[in-house]
Amino acid sequence: MSEHQKKTIFSGVQPSGKLTLGNYLGAIRNFPLLQEEYQCIYCVVDLHAITVRQEPAALRRQTLEVLAQYIACGLDPEKSILFIQSHVPAHAELAWILNCYTMFGEASRMTQFKDKAAKHSDNVNVGLFDYPVLMAADILLYQADLVPVGVDQLQHIELTRNIAQRFNGVYSDTFTMPEPYIPKAGAKIMSLTDPTRKMSKSDQNPGGFVLLMDKPDDILRKFKRAVTDSDNRIVVRDDKPGVSNLITIYALATGQTIQQVEEQFAGKGYGELKPAVGEAVVELLRPIREKTEDLLKNKDYLEQVYTAGAQKASALARKTLDKVYRKVGFIKR
Ligand code: TRP
Repeated sequence: MSEHQKKTIFSGVQPSGKLTLGNYLGAIRNFPLLQEEYQCIYCVVDLHAITVRQEPAALRRQTLEVLAQYIACGLDPEKSILFIQSHVPAHAELAWILNCYTMFGEASRMTQFKDKAAKHSDNVNVGLFDYPVLMAADILLYQADLVPVGVDQLQHIELTRNIAQRFNGVYSDTFTMPEPYIPKAGAKIMSLTDPTRKMSKSDQNPGGFVLLMDKPDDILRKFKRAVTDSDNRIVVRDDKPGVSNLITIYALATGQTIQQVEEQFAGKGYGELKPAVGEAVVELLRPIREKTEDLLKNKDYLEQVYTAGAQKASALARKTLDKVYRKVGFIKR
């Protein structure tokens, strides 16, 4: 398939530097496959990051860490476009325009804004309110067809579609209508300490999540302490969220089906399951961690990747922005 016929996937990732096993099994793991079939564009969203206070040195380091981890997970800079949001000014430019096509009322309904405003009550800035409009700009600039996101971002995709539809309606077809791309079931990984909640790096208890960069000893310890239940049967069942989660992780890490894992552990206890899952995850993550560490020692290479990425992204973004400027009535520069 030629580049022109390929559908476009766009995804933004926060430069938190901390990708979890949940992020990996739920989404990133599939990225290398997707890049064969789609034009994939991955953007480290540093403009979004500063809607909450960031330590400058940490933001710089974490931006590179995310980039390195994505490459280590199998994204090929020759096939996918990898870049840093602030390197492509069109994001901020389109966001301003889209602000004028976003209603205050609809933006006010965003639940993530309400949650974050409550969490950072000392810094409820306008950027935080505007976060979803910048996200709409990210997506619409590249005429993305599909946007891989977690369920927590669905409301933002819906807003993006509303903005696109409004703009297309006022002028004429300008933006592609993006669809959320939710990976198939079975990939939702839960906290190891509270398996009724999604695995998250912002969990108070670091025992609840495994990071791609965690050392093997830490990974093994976290799995040994994983919350299970008292019935000691190794099966996936709604009333056994902890054990179900461990089985799911083990199945994904070893490339087996749930049923195969249940058979493998039939008649065995949690004392065998937990270290086995730990070991499997250690082996799954080892090459990713090592590759990331290597890449972070090679800053010149990373610079080459994000510079080339920004160039390719800018060319695509410019096309959309030119069209938008023309439609709203700006004079061609
Ligand atoms: N808001 C997204 C998140 O927190 C990150 C993001 C920013 C994004 N821009 C995007 C995701 C565009 C998908 C598409 O996860």
